[in-house]
Amino acid sequence: MPQLKTVKGTFDLLAKDINRFDYVKTIFKNICQNYGYQQIETPVFEDVKVFKRENDTSDMVNKEMYMIGDDKALRPEGTAGAIRAFVEHKLYVNEAPFKMFYMEKMYRHERPQKGRQREFTQIGVENLGDKKAIIDAEVIAMGYDVVKKLGLKDIKVLINTIGDVESRKKYCEVLTEYFKDKKECLCQDCQNRLTKNPLRILDCKIDNQQDVITKAPVLYDYLSNDSKNYFNEVLNYLNELNIEYSIDNRLVRGLDYYSETVFEVVSTNSASGAQSTLFAGGRYDELVEYFDGPSLSGVGFAMGLERLLILMDAEGIEIPYDESIDYYIIDLTNSNPYVLKVAQMLRTFNKKVELNFYDRKMKAQFKSVERKMAKNVVIIGDDEVLNETIVIKNIQTQEQMIVPLNKIKEMI
Ligand code: HAM
Repeated sequence: MPQLKTVKGTFDLLAKDINRFDYVKTIFKNICQNYGYQQIETPVFEDVKVFKRENDTSDMVNKEMYMIGDDKALRPEGTAGAIRAFVEHKLYVNEAPFKMFYMEKMYRHERPQKGRQREFTQIGVENLGDKKAIIDAEVIAMGYDVVKKLGLKDIKVLINTIGDVESRKKYCEVLTEYFKDKKECLCQDCQNRLTKNPLRILDCKIDNQQDVITKAPVLYDYLSNDSKNYFNEVLNYLNELNIEYSIDNRLVRGLDYYSETVFEVVSTNSASGAQSTLFAGGRYDELVEYFDGPSLSGVGFAMGLERLLILMDAEGIEIPYDESIDYYIIDLTNSNPYVLKVAQMLRTFNKKVELNFYDRKMKAQFKSVERKMAKNVVIIGDDEVLNETIVIKNIQTQEQMIVPLNKIKEMI
C-alpha cells in the first residue's frame, strides 16, 4: 500500500507546533478572561441549519461546507454554533452582555494555500446584548490587545459599516441598477450574486472585475442617519483608545449575518502571503432570534490561529519552548524495580522525570542526559538499591551527593 498522508489542506501538529498553538491560546484565553468572557465549546458537527440559513448567499455556506449526509455539516465557523448553544442553554437569563469565547477547529472546503487550510483553528469571541457602539469598540480593542500581546507589529485595522437593513436594501437596489449593464464584466458567480445579494460582488477577489467594482456607488452614501451616527460613535471610541484604523468602504465581509460595524485586521508583512486577514468580525442583529432566542444583538470576531503563527514567524517573534526535564535516572541495575520506585517518587513532587530502560553503559546513558537537557541526573546502581539511596548530580553546578530515599522530599 502506498504511504498514507494527511489529506490536502490538513496538518499534523507535532509537539513543537502544539507548544506554539498553546502559547497563543494561553495569551488569548487570559485576555478573554480579563474582559469577563467565558469559554464555550460546541460540537464539531451540527445540524446544517445551524450554519445555513434560508437565502444565505455566502460562499462559505454554499460552496465550502463539508456535509455529513444530507442534514449535518462540519462547522465552518464558530459564531453560529456559539449562538445556537447560547439559546439552547438559555444563557440569556444571566445579566447582559453575555460574553463567550472559543478556540476550535473549523472546516472549509477551500483551495489550500499558505494561510488557507481546510482544517484550521479559530479563536474567537461573541458579545451578546444591546447594540451599542462602545461594545463594538471594546470587542475590536480586545482583538487588538491579543495581536499586540503576541508582539505583532505589521498590522492594520480596516473598518466599515454596512448599515442597517433598510439602508442595505436601498443600497442593493442602487448596486443592482449600477451593475445591470456591466454584467459582462462580472464573473459567473458575481452575475448570480447580482440577483441574490449584490453586496457580495464587492467582496469578490477576481482581478479583472476590480475596476468596475471600484467605480461602484459607495454604501456610506446610502446609510440612514442612525447608521452613520452609530459608525461615527464607534470610530470616536477607537480614536480615544488610540487604535489606528483605516476606513475601507468596500469592506462588506463574506458572511451574511452582519449589520452595521464590520472590521478586518490584516497583516502588512509581505511574508504572510495572499491570506493576510488575521482576524475579522462585526455586528449581527438577527442571529439570536433565528435560533428562537430573545431579540439581542451581537458582535464578535474570530482569528485564524495558523495565520497568527505565520505572521509571528515572519516578524521573527520567538515562542519559548522548554524541552528540558528535571531528572534523568541513569540505571546501572538493568531495570531493578527500585529505579521505577524512585522515578515515581520524584514525579509525586511534580517533576519531569525520565529513566533509562535499556541495558547501556553509563557513558551512553549520559548522552541521554544531554539530549534530554536534564537539569539533574540520578544514578542508581546495586549499592544504591541495597542502601535505599540515590546519587544525585546537579548538571549546572556539577555538585553531587548521596541522598537516602526517605530524605528525597527535603532534598527537593
Ligand atoms: P471569517 O472572516 O470567515 O469570519 O474568519 C475569521 C478568520 O478565520 C479569518 O480572518 C482567518 O484568519 C481565519 N480563517 C478563515 N478561513 C480560513 C482558512 N481556510 N484557513 C485558515 N484560516 C482561516 C468568521 O468566521 C466569523 N465567524 C467571525 C465572527 C465572529 N464574526 C462575528 N463573530
